[in-house]
Amino acid sequence: MSKILIIDKDVEICKTLNNLFIKEGYDVCVANTGKEGILKVKEENPDIIILEPKLSDMDGISLIKEHLPTVENKSIIILTEYGNVDMAVQSMKLGVFDYIIKPPEEKKLLLSIKNALETKLLRQKVKDLSDQFYVACKAYFFIGNDPSIKRILEMAKKVASTDVTILIEGESGVGKEQIARLIHAHSLRKDKPFIAIDCGTFPDSLIESEFFGYEKGAFTGADKRKPGQFEIAEGGTIFLNEISNLPLSAQQKLLRVLQEREIQHLGGTKTIKIDVRILSDSNVSLEKRVLNKEFREDLYHRLNEFKIIVPPLRERGDDIFLLSNYFLEEANKGFYKQVRGFSDDVKELFLLYHWPGNVRELKSTVKRAVLLADDIVMIEHLPPAIQLLKNTIKPIETIQNQEETEAEEEVPYKSKFKKNRLLLESERKVILGLLKKYDNNRTKTAKELGITRRALYYKLKKLDL
Ligand SMILES: Nc1ncnc2c1ncn2[C@@H]1O[C@H](COP(=O)(O)OP(=O)(O)OP(=O)(O)O)[C@@H](O)[C@H]1O
Ligand SMILES: [Mg+2]
Repeated sequence: MSKILIIDKDVEICKTLNNLFIKEGYDVCVANTGKEGILKVKEENPDIIILEPKLSDMDGISLIKEHLPTVENKSIIILTEYGNVDMAVQSMKLGVFDYIIKPPEEKKLLLSIKNALETKLLRQKVKDLSDQFYVACKAYFFIGNDPSIKRILEMAKKVASTDVTILIEGESGVGKEQIARLIHAHSLRKDKPFIAIDCGTFPDSLIESEFFGYEKGAFTGADKRKPGQFEIAEGGTIFLNEISNLPLSAQQKLLRVLQEREIQHLGGTKTIKIDVRILSDSNVSLEKRVLNKEFREDLYHRLNEFKIIVPPLRERGDDIFLLSNYFLEEANKGFYKQVRGFSDDVKELFLLYHWPGNVRELKSTVKRAVLLADDIVMIEHLPPAIQLLKNTIKPIETIQNQEETEAEEEVPYKSKFKKNRLLLESERKVILGLLKKYDNNRTKTAKELGITRRALYYKLKKLDL
């Protein structure tokens, strides 16, 4: 039932409207002052507010401006006997839905309420749809252009339409769950649930009931029957996040379910057939766990009908720039900012940094930097761990001097980008010299410069070499 809040100092009008709205089947609440009105908005969460702007303790327009969030304004109908053009214009500017002069025509007022409710419903539907669309788009999203990533995406799409179990391995934060979601989104199960279960978060005693559900009275506190995640995911995909954390006792139960394709509630006797596809991920090598007898070999083979290994961010070439630009745009939207990009120094550090937390770390680094930056992300907007790298970089002149004196030794130094043309020129000379020295071998050149191959490629590109 829709709820209407009347805010008006005139007790008689409140009574009349109250009776009219109740007769029409609405739920009604009344406030006679602005203060009371603000309280009722919070407590009652009305769908529509009928507001007389002339109140004893405050003016209705400032009440809307200061105390009602914009989204609620579209559900406000002003009902006033002190109507004037100025106030009407002001309230419309604030997004008020309608402006009616007292005494209101019953039909007109009721029609306005009906329209406001319909608009509210439509707004909600549009929001729900765009949320769903966003989630769907996100599921399809995996930014990356490096050959290693392209190969993975092709593989993922190929196996998506089958029901093989897939094990996704890779360091923390490389995007394993994102790949799992992508596989689900490209499968025939895409309209059914995708349920991610974190295998490390449940104590041994809870895993069985969480995975497979329980009957009323199965244990102390089980006051009603509850389905498990495997039932909730029926027809869809279960994603077992960090499967290496699954205790041995639970591994055996999971193996049985994978073999039999049926489950039993804890405390129950009935078997329930299930149709779910299993994907799992791990940021340690599951094979090593098997060798160490920490993971059941039979379960490993069941989970690993197909394996995808996602490389760390530092091995994905220029993808770091694709991803950082994407996260920059995302953060700009989220924070209503217009940060334009990253300084050359920052790009250089992005290439040199090891990124132990991979894409997740890059995402939070960029988000934080966008919050701090005004126009361009500079070194001072980066977390200290990355900023510190700056101190390990030696200026280019040192490289040249050392190059001359220690030509035959392996020199553990790193170069520094400077916008100054002269320095770029000397940098070009050093790199060309080393490339010549190593017969164009870029790995050796990068090693001597003390930078990664990726950083060297970036430099070559930047120096037009
Ligand atoms: N290629 C990508 N494109 C866009 N966003 C990505 C990409 N890879 C990862 N992300 C984002 O980075 C974050 C970490 O990704 P995800 O959770 O998939 O990593 P993970 O490998 O499962 O991490 P963990 O091992 O810590 O569970 C998420 O916010 C995800 O949306
Ligand atoms: Mg994960």
